[in-house]
Amino acid sequence: MQIITSVSDMQSHADSLRRAGKRIGFVPTMGFLHAGHLSLMGRARQENDIVIASIFVNPTQFGPKEDLDRYPRDAEGDRNKCESAGVDVLFMPEAKEMYPDKPSVFVCVEGISDILEGAIRPGHFRGVATVVAKLFQIVKPHRAYFGQKDFQQCAVIRQMVLGLNLDVEITALPTVREADGLAMSSRNSYLDPEQRQKATCLIRALLAGEELIKSGVRETEKVRQKMRAVLGQEKGVEIDYVEVADPDRLAPLERLGGRTVLLVAVRLGSTRLIDNLLIL
Ligand code: PAJ
Repeated sequence: MQIITSVSDMQSHADSLRRAGKRIGFVPTMGFLHAGHLSLMGRARQENDIVIASIFVNPTQFGPKEDLDRYPRDAEGDRNKCESAGVDVLFMPEAKEMYPDKPSVFVCVEGISDILEGAIRPGHFRGVATVVAKLFQIVKPHRAYFGQKDFQQCAVIRQMVLGLNLDVEITALPTVREADGLAMSSRNSYLDPEQRQKATCLIRALLAGEELIKSGVRETEKVRQKMRAVLGQEKGVEIDYVEVADPDRLAPLERLGGRTVLLVAVRLGSTRLIDNLLIL
């Protein structure tokens, strides 16, 4: 596996791969890799000639009071995991390499960036869209792989790709979970054992919501209430939002009918956790 840290080296390598007719699959990450990230790399491995992964803890997507400084890191463990997952090239730039100057150019995907996660984390999706657009220009992938775990992020990226006519095919893959249903996340490492147990309330709330829908309930407010009740049973769990939305625009739904996504976000101590369930 080749490790590249400079933007221009990555660009010229991507150019030569493209000239040789190789299809490039790309998995952007912020590192501290787990089985969720590895599932994206595995799919990229199956579908492309060359797999490029990136590890970059992107400062522009963190708010001033967020966890940028304590975001977990494990460069050596991550390198080994990428190697085992069959990654050909690992792009690991320093922050100065990606943002040599104070950033002045941003990609804004209006509307969808301002609700749910975006309402709680102002500027977050502007940072995500900006860095992903930059990474696409640097890695020059044919396809890029994202996790449904970050459902709204997938929607933002798809809209950015459409809006800017970016020539990258986006694939979203299912959430990989721990045995007890907790969605894998680098941030789970912040949880103490008691919080870790409580954290299963997200998937329990989502499954309770799904069950209600499958039993024929059509008023989404009842589904929200049910999910809030499950989350509310756990002391110390603060709800950021509970939503029943349409999976494309993420607009809240009043009545159920077609495809639906249930979304939850909570705080457990100083750790934020999000999860979602797509109901077809
Ligand atoms: P990060 O949180 O490291 O996630 C990298 C990719 O892995 C994202 O597409 C995310 O949705 C996916 N992922 C995370 N947990 C997963 C799980 N349990 N199952 C399946 N996929 C999972 O998301 C980011 O980084 C950043 O915002 C990034 C896109 C790299 C831009 O900085």
